[in-house]
Amino acid sequence: MEPTTLSIPEGQVTAILGESGAGKTTVGRLIDGLTRPTTGSVSIDGVDISRLRHKELIAATSRIGVVFQGSALLSRRTALENVALPLQVSGVGRSSRRARAEELLARVGLEAKAGAYPSQLSGGQKQRVAIARALSARPEYLLADEATSGLDAETTKSILGLLRELRDDLRLTIVLITHEMDVVRELADRAVLFENGALAEEAVVTDAARTPGSRLGRLILPPVNVPPAPPGTTAWEVSHAREVAPDWLPELSARLDARVLLLGGISEVINGHSAGRLYIAVPSHLPAHSVTGAGKGLGLAVQPHGDTSTGFQKVGLAP
Ligand SMILES: Nc1ncnc2c1ncn2[C@@H]1O[C@H](COP(=O)(O)OP(=O)(O)OP(=O)(O)O)[C@@H](O)[C@H]1O
Ligand SMILES: [Mg+2]
Repeated sequence: MEPTTLSIPEGQVTAILGESGAGKTTVGRLIDGLTRPTTGSVSIDGVDISRLRHKELIAATSRIGVVFQGSALLSRRTALENVALPLQVSGVGRSSRRARAEELLARVGLEAKAGAYPSQLSGGQKQRVAIARALSARPEYLLADEATSGLDAETTKSILGLLRELRDDLRLTIVLITHEMDVVRELADRAVLFENGALAEEAVVTDAARTPGSRLGRLILPPVNVPPAPPGTTAWEVSHAREVAPDWLPELSARLDARVLLLGGISEVINGHSAGRLYIAVPSHLPAHSVTGAGKGLGLAVQPHGDTSTGFQKVGLAP
């Protein structure tokens, strides 16, 4: 297998994506020192943790807050006591522990469940307690494996808001292993794709979305079906990332002196910026260079589309 190096930048959110069985959880376990690499190394702040002895390894990885797929809570402790546990381990006093745990339970929407035992909580509530517990000792790194999977939209939003604040205010470095593209679009700065145990692609999320042929881009902005271009017109693919003038479509019509139809497509907000892949139909008699030229005149990057099975052409809108 090809050698693979994965770097996680500080103070950013890195999303690890890939199909089931691709190796995402394995990467998480390597980062947290739960699995030792058979070859290669794992460094945190320049320290190779794969060479450390057990005790040193525990110390080195104690700065990582971890939420694992199906994280287990201690069944004989209440939600509050579970959240306070890492603080107790690091010697924080009783009243500060309680205040911090209460604050975090409120942040994950569970202030009313502080006294509940894990058996009295739903699956999603347990997951939220695990997130609060991972954050309680103010870690420098957070590793979350499917932490928001299966939670309702409201709760997911509040947890993503919390993670964004931690990144922006405390420069918390976050690794998110997820299948949820909403989470990636909303929170991730960078994305990494694993396939069959190997690193297949890595990119800044907004770049992936506007890179033709990027598999990450196709995950972040999934392909959509659109109707065929009406007779006498040709379909073009228009992709854009970051800010683009909201009136680009009528503007393109005006510049081509022709009716430009919107066939459909996908438009999302990525990292707070609009991004999309839209399909338009342009009268076929217009030469391709006029269409691309009009695009350029609007400050758009224009590229022919690779797979031309339906005569599709592509217009990329640069930021
Ligand atoms: N302890 C183990 N021993 C042997 N093989 C393992 C072990 N743990 C995982 N694997 C295998 O390694 C591969 C990657 O597993 P991993 O759990 O990292 O996948 P994943 O990307 O997290 O998948 P999912 O999205 O389903 O959680 C799989 O083929 C899995 O069967
Ligand atoms: Mg997994």
